[in-house]
Amino acid sequence: MEILNEIRISMPSLSSNESAARAAVSSFIVQTDPTVEELSDIRTAVSEAVTNAIVHGYRGTSGIIELVIRLLPGREIYIRVKDSGCGITDIKKAMEPLFTTAPEEERSGLGFSVMESFMDRLSVRSKVGQGTTVTMRKKLAAHGS
Ligand SMILES: Nc1ncnc2c1ncn2[C@@H]1O[C@H](COP(=O)(O)OP(=O)(O)O)[C@@H](O)[C@H]1O
Ligand SMILES: [Mg+2]
Repeated sequence: MEILNEIRISMPSLSSNESAARAAVSSFIVQTDPTVEELSDIRTAVSEAVTNAIVHGYRGTSGIIELVIRLLPGREIYIRVKDSGCGITDIKKAMEPLFTTAPEEERSGLGFSVMESFMDRLSVRSKVGQGTTVTMRKKLAAHGS
């Protein structure tokens, strides 16, 4: 993978870092001069992934979340959100719309659906007891002159 630019952020699983992650992604992506909608889509997707790491991955515990944001050739944005939390038993099921293991917290079960619809590609890798890595890509529209 050819990487044109990259930032890596390592943060503790505090809910205040959801907005910090959104801000980081915005300030990195601004170099590509994205549309308002592209920026909003990517921010939302990152927010969902980071929130999942905090509320599900490190449920009842705490740990480190690694966020990697890359600019790839062809105006493609690559995002990776990694936690070393509890992991997911059944990834396919977890990704189904409306599936949630935390209904009492009024989770909608739509986090993965949002990531899937706002980004071009979504991949989830997870091992129970080891953690979860969510990778997303989105190609930005060609630049007008
Ligand atoms: N990082 C993660 N670590 C462990 N489990 C996760 C993680 N992300 C998602 N999950 C599981 O996948 C389910 C669906 O996630 P999501 O679609 O975001 O819905 P919600 O967060 O509203 O429950 C969660 O309820 C949880 O069981
Ligand atoms: Mg969620």
